Amino acid sequence: MSKSNSELNSILHSGYQHPTSRAWQSQGRNLTKSMFMYPLFITDDDDAEVELASMPGQKRWGVNKLEAFLAPLVQKGLESVILFGVPLKDPKDERGTLADDPQGPVIKAIRLLRRAFPSLYVATDVCLCEYTSHGHCGILFEDGTINNEPSIARLAQVAVSYAKAGAHCVAPSDMMDGRVKAIKQALLKEGLAGRTTLMAYSAKFASSLYGPFRDAVDSAPSFGNRKCYQLPPAARGLARRAVLRDVDEGADIIMVKPTLPYLDIVTEARDLAPNHPLACYQVSGEFAMIHAGAKAGVYDLRTMAEETAISMVRAGATLILSYFTPEFLDWLD
Ligand code: PBG
Ligand code: ZN
Repeated sequence: MSKSNSELNSILHSGYQHPTSRAWQSQGRNLTKSMFMYPLFITDDDDAEVELASMPGQKRWGVNKLEAFLAPLVQKGLESVILFGVPLKDPKDERGTLADDPQGPVIKAIRLLRRAFPSLYVATDVCLCEYTSHGHCGILFEDGTINNEPSIARLAQVAVSYAKAGAHCVAPSDMMDGRVKAIKQALLKEGLAGRTTLMAYSAKFASSLYGPFRDAVDSAPSFGNRKCYQLPPAARGLARRAVLRDVDEGADIIMVKPTLPYLDIVTEARDLAPNHPLACYQVSGEFAMIHAGAKAGVYDLRTMAEETAISMVRAGATLILSYFTPEFLDWLD
């Protein structure tokens, strides 16, 4: 910058002095309703509507309650949901048999939502931890370590069951090696590949922000932790490799999770996968944290929720999985 112009170049206020010019400065980074995907917990008591203590305003839903709950949200512009199954009645086993039980909550919810809301995009989380007796995301060897091959075969089976039931999108969150390829090949074999989006939780970190979710779905591992499959928080290189691998294995959408402590990874993923939609998951602990801070008077809830969502879009996200989705449908009017 030449010295002579510094006086003129030092003036920035002139570019955002009016709401309209401020909007121009934010072009391409404004929030829209269609960016938001709402995570829903579906349980096996069909009439349930249970408040979750650690996630303000969120509930575990029985399928019979879904239509009445979602109708006003769809009316306000809700375009997509992602389903998580929460089996509480039937006994869990080592291979997560309940995950694709045809009478289980997820498959029943897919069918119901497709029928009740023809325009709604229905995604399903694909994992085993909610359904296994040991609470891990895959199938284990006797010594308790992950047995990868049967794990990805089982995940592919579950994904196919959800796609057959009508899910528009299957989203593996397990972090097993090769699951994207295994799922894509299974969908291909069943003739479902062309009509089923594969959204990969690609850069999913071993975070302390999943606590409220594990309470909500009762999926905390009964021993050990998930550090052998979820990424170490400082592992930037592994995150980059995981994104590139999932693109290579046929993922349609790449995801980074959690979001706020990993915004640099969101930007990395944007650069590594420039031709894919990029999702980020503002997880349960982030949601609880924003609520707790607002309650403590640190900031205004809405302002902070918007600020965090904008940070994700600025970092490169095109899709946001957020428990604030119902609020955003009001706020973005
Ligand atoms: C399970 C899964 C988790 C989340 C989504 N899928 C938890 C975990 O890995 O322990 C986290 C969602 C949230 O915290 O909101 N595979
Ligand atoms: Zn899992």
